[in-house]
Amino acid sequence: MPLPPLDDEPDGERLQKVLARAGIGSRRVCEELIADGKVTVNGVAAVLGRRVDPEADRIEVDGVPLSVREGLVYYLLNKPAAVVTTASDPEGRRTVVELVPDEPRVYPVGRLDYETEGLLILTNDGDLTHRLTHPSFGVEKEYLAEVTGTPSRGVLRMLREGVELDDGPTAPAKASLQPPNHLTLTIHEGRNRQVRRMCDAVGHPVVRLVRTRIGPIVDRTLKPGEWRDLTPAEVRALETQVAGAAKASERAERKAAGAARHAADEE
Ligand code: URA
Repeated sequence: MPLPPLDDEPDGERLQKVLARAGIGSRRVCEELIADGKVTVNGVAAVLGRRVDPEADRIEVDGVPLSVREGLVYYLLNKPAAVVTTASDPEGRRTVVELVPDEPRVYPVGRLDYETEGLLILTNDGDLTHRLTHPSFGVEKEYLAEVTGTPSRGVLRMLREGVELDDGPTAPAKASLQPPNHLTLTIHEGRNRQVRRMCDAVGHPVVRLVRTRIGPIVDRTLKPGEWRDLTPAEVRALETQVAGAAKASERAERKAAGAARHAADEE
């Protein structure tokens, strides 16, 4: 009877092959990661020789899930001005999904205003979309804002400390000025028209707004209207950011629960 091929069903694929395909490193590097106990499958440290079903098994490297599910796509678009960040527009305006391939169907991760330009991720990975857009994960976004007038040092301080908006104060932002009128602002809240409203609130309305970074993702070569696939390393870097944020928020929750128990014990 012929022997079954090495990497075939029913036992799944070799873990190092799956890791290498996901862009973690060469098979050799992936074998070392497994041997070092850095890879878990369904929560259990994997051993060399482990076979997996990448569709069904939850594989993590250093606690960060692997983005290898088949059929998932991740595009980075440089959104031009005068394009809406929705899947369809009742007013018939151009939409961001018209700028990337039709199939598979993808959705924008968060939104940029009609007139805002710059980096936007589109994907069919709903799980990552949720984690990237949820405020509790606090992924940083950096914007370059051309504003009217020249913001003073006092204005920069106000932006850094947080400004009062009609839906509440903003969290502290990073703010710097390239004189005379270009502000770099880094925020992690993602409230509606937040940068424009922050600049209005300090008396320097935005003339032009460009998003230049989403967490670890930057690209200075992509022209307006152009898109490219995120690399596996970039997808992983995004996963790492949200995994780190999730752990930090779990720690904060545990600390708060501990403090509440402590307070109850003392009563
Ligand atoms: N802040 C804004 O004001 N507009 C955007 O499009 C993004 C952030």
